[in-house]
Amino acid sequence: MDQDLEEAIKLIKESKYTVAFTGAGISVESGIPPFRGENGLWSKYNPEILDLSYFYSHPLASWKVIKEIFYDFFGEAKPNKAHLALAELENKGILKSVVTQNIDNLHTEAGSKEVYEFHGNSRMLVCKNNHHFEASLFNLEDLPPKCTKCNETLKPDFIFFGEGIPELAYCKSFEAAEKADVIIVIGSTGEVYPAANMPKQAKANGAKIIEINPEKTLFSESITDVFLQGKASDVMEKILIGLKR
Ligand code: APR
Repeated sequence: MDQDLEEAIKLIKESKYTVAFTGAGISVESGIPPFRGENGLWSKYNPEILDLSYFYSHPLASWKVIKEIFYDFFGEAKPNKAHLALAELENKGILKSVVTQNIDNLHTEAGSKEVYEFHGNSRMLVCKNNHHFEASLFNLEDLPPKCTKCNETLKPDFIFFGEGIPELAYCKSFEAAEKADVIIVIGSTGEVYPAANMPKQAKANGAKIIEINPEKTLFSESITDVFLQGKASDVMEKILIGLKR
């Protein structure tokens, strides 16, 4: 990987507009399991709990699993060295933004400022009348949580299957795809759309794609220019060191 690592560091050093695109894999070392692959969440839980029509027809059954996965389990997670490295690169003016599929808020907690959350964020709850609340204000032992304004059932403010992408995050993500000359893709299978279109759009616009993943993905065989095999925190640490040389 050393030659590839040197190539990646050179691309970032020469870049005018580097953007990161992250998936569940960047949070694995924070203790949050990925959705797919070995020990993936979808091998343990039925994805239907995140189907919008199922949620509204079975709010209690859906909320019990959602609470277990996204609030009890995720709640303790902290940013790891990969999240912190991206925040440091933004601080140095090297990284312009992070487009993330993750809903765990770890990029923001790591100090990243320009974070576009393509699938929303589990920190907030929202009702059908678009009233928003911090999830931490509710006792999630008492399910399903109800809107204090209209008594409608509250759902996490991340997108369920069947829901549209948050408009601002969508626009900002594809704006970044237009401007970027380097995309660092970290921890994503490239299987989920329309998110996976963002790095593809950047590639089509001439950006160079650096990919960090322990395994090859759909991106690797199609758009990736430099594949860095490994865990997000290990590889990002090496990139940070290389950029300081
Ligand atoms: N460092 C980097 N990548 C890792 C690590 C690690 N330590 N561990 C696993 N990975 C990689 C896996 O090899 C895989 O490619 O992270 C990826 C995780 O795949 P998914 O869980 O499918 O994540 P992602 O591609 O982001 O899924 C997209 O699917 O269910 C929806 O909304 C959900 O945002 C999610 C979307």
